[in-house]
Amino acid sequence: MAERHTRRVLVLNGPNLNLLGTREPEVYGATTLADIERMMQEKAATLSLSIEFRQSNHEGQLIDWLHEARGWCESVIFNPGAYTHTSVALYDAIKAIELPVIEVHLSNPHARESFRHTSFVSPVARGVIQGFGAFGYLMALEAAAQF
Ligand code: DQA
Repeated sequence: MAERHTRRVLVLNGPNLNLLGTREPEVYGATTLADIERMMQEKAATLSLSIEFRQSNHEGQLIDWLHEARGWCESVIFNPGAYTHTSVALYDAIKAIELPVIEVHLSNPHARESFRHTSFVSPVARGVIQGFGAFGYLMALEAAAQF
């Protein structure tokens, strides 16, 4: 069987996700962002994926990274945090880059406050995984292996 070349995936995390582990553990669990990165690195290796894992609290930084992604990766796994529900700029950026973006949320925003029921990212995402905690990021890797 021909060997599949390594695919590159950008994993982007938005605001407040650096606080995972201590932030509302009843909603987001006790897993830290560093734990998630470790779990993803292990799984990525089994799928011939190479991941670049980043977090920013700044909308413009996330947009710059999305633009840059066009030059070097095949897909993006993106938890945009609260910008999911507010950012037309992220919608525009994802539309512009024409890369498959897999939207991930630890919690299920539809089971929470009504202001979380709208996502500006979902209409331009290839698909959405939400409500499965940190495991959702691993599911997203399986999806990323398709691109
Ligand atoms: C989140 C859900 C968002 O509504 C929230 O603002 C977050 C985290 C999640 O992963 O469940 O910051 O994206």
